[in-house]
Amino acid sequence: MDVVSSYVRLTKRSGANYFGLCPFHSEKTPSFSVSPDRQSYHCFGCGKGGGVIGFIMEIENLSFPEAVEFLAKRANMKLPEEVNDRESKKRARMLALNRDAARWFYEQLHTPQAQLARAYMEKRRIGAVTAKNFGLGYAPNEWRMLMDAMKEKGYTEQELFEAGLIRRREKSTYDTFRNRLMFPVIDVRGNVIGFSGRILDDDEPKYMNSPDTLVFDKGRNLFALNLAKKSKSGYIILSEGNIDVVSLHQAGFDSAVASLGTSLTPEQARLISRYTGEVIIAYDGDGAGIKASQRAIGILEKLDLKVRVLRMSGAKDPDELIRTRGPEAFRALLEASENQVDYRLRTIAAKYVLDSPEQKYEYLKEAYGVVARLPDQAQRDLYASRLAEQVGVKEDAVRGDVEKTRVQLIRRARSNENRAAARPERPAAAQGRKLYFDDPRAAAAEQGLIRLLFLDAGYARGQPLPEPGEFSSPELRHIYEALRERIERHAPINLSLLSETLSREEIDLLVQLDQEPVNLSNGEQAMADYISIIHDRYTERQSAAEQQPASDGLLAIRDKYRLTKAYK
Ligand code: CTP
Ligand code: MN
Repeated sequence: MDVVSSYVRLTKRSGANYFGLCPFHSEKTPSFSVSPDRQSYHCFGCGKGGGVIGFIMEIENLSFPEAVEFLAKRANMKLPEEVNDRESKKRARMLALNRDAARWFYEQLHTPQAQLARAYMEKRRIGAVTAKNFGLGYAPNEWRMLMDAMKEKGYTEQELFEAGLIRRREKSTYDTFRNRLMFPVIDVRGNVIGFSGRILDDDEPKYMNSPDTLVFDKGRNLFALNLAKKSKSGYIILSEGNIDVVSLHQAGFDSAVASLGTSLTPEQARLISRYTGEVIIAYDGDGAGIKASQRAIGILEKLDLKVRVLRMSGAKDPDELIRTRGPEAFRALLEASENQVDYRLRTIAAKYVLDSPEQKYEYLKEAYGVVARLPDQAQRDLYASRLAEQVGVKEDAVRGDVEKTRVQLIRRARSNENRAAARPERPAAAQGRKLYFDDPRAAAAEQGLIRLLFLDAGYARGQPLPEPGEFSSPELRHIYEALRERIERHAPINLSLLSETLSREEIDLLVQLDQEPVNLSNGEQAMADYISIIHDRYTERQSAAEQQPASDGLLAIRDKYRLTKAYK
């Protein structure tokens, strides 16, 4: 109640629950509820729910450990020291060094010696406010200036080396970044984790990034995500270069990010998906940019993100476009950016000259592969009729072909035993993910038992509880184990406490179970029924396994072996 109240005005009370307007979707009548008894929240509108840690993860966009840290701070509690104490101290020290170095680079920008750097920024139209927001700095054209300054602050050469700020060649050591405009890379928690430096003259390489260190992993971070995560635009703009990002922010496109010298990685995509449901790719207009766009689309789609692709024209990259034609020009491209289906179809069409029947046929065949994968019938029909018009064939024929292709795709996916591929555009959808139970009857009883125990552990009294090993579903078994362990210790049960042992997904499942209606007038009887069903189903599965033909005997033995291990 305390935590939620600082984000949501709980205006209504109904029974043991308090209601307010859901912070996770827009609504006019309150369907967001908080239960002080169960220490949980649930929105009947959008289905989100969980404990206090999950709430903070969701609303503050934090990971689990970050949310715990956040809550501990809020409650003036000290977190227990990390297990790996030496390493965590080293990390903290490296972060402090990076921060000091960033500050030093920033100061250098304002010395008389930085005349060239300031002229460069002026040439690139980077204003003072923007420079300050990004913490831009200047690495002077000297060999040991940063090193000396940081040593003066008490950092050792070894520490500088491990942070990637100096390099060693034979006996000599020297600053990594020289004569460069410095972009600190800041993570979503506000730590300076590394740097990119752009050369001020024509020297090579044009961009230099910190090497991967204890605190910096280029494939898992994005430049400017610390700023972009606060954007209210509802999407993230993915561009290629640091200067593009800076120009975009300066022009008011405050959700621009860039990867750090690599093409987009799945980890970066996952990070993005924590902050937005839609990504607009705004890579350079050249061949490399187009290739990189296609790769990025594939990666982003897998995470169920909506993807649009901006067609760069009139300039080579966003920075140049804004500089030569103004922010409105970029805004226009942004608004005209295509969804991934349009983009794909256009890219395919570009390969063919649609003037002969053969070419048309080849084009359609390839295009069907894209359209047939759309989950929505109406969408497939829409694209089918567009294709028909474009190629000049009957609409019905194209529609028929698309549906035939779809059937083939699904059949192929099934035969691959690949459920995800059956609906290729939304494979591992985090939301709405369904559990598949091998033994649905057993699983129903297992869910019922969990629900009752969570509601009131008192039901566990007087009845011998089943062994976790008797559960058919591994997911449910894990939740049950956590509950049972607390019941046996007479420890209190609520979501916050359980989230110490259960994963986010398991907590979500538990909340989901908890929301289902239950008739408590006959709780004891229901409890007894669940227990006996779980027991019976278990025995049945065991004897079925024993009666398997010899060739399957090994499997059964392996399963039993697993069970005995699980008891220990
Ligand atoms: N690059 C990099 N590290 C970064 C940023 C960019 O290695 N932190 C690489 C990109 O992968 C790209 C090249 O540097 O291949 C040029 O980046 P781009 O933004 O396209 O630069 P330009 O537009 O050519 O130059 P400018 O930064 O001056 O706009
Ligand atoms: Mn550029």
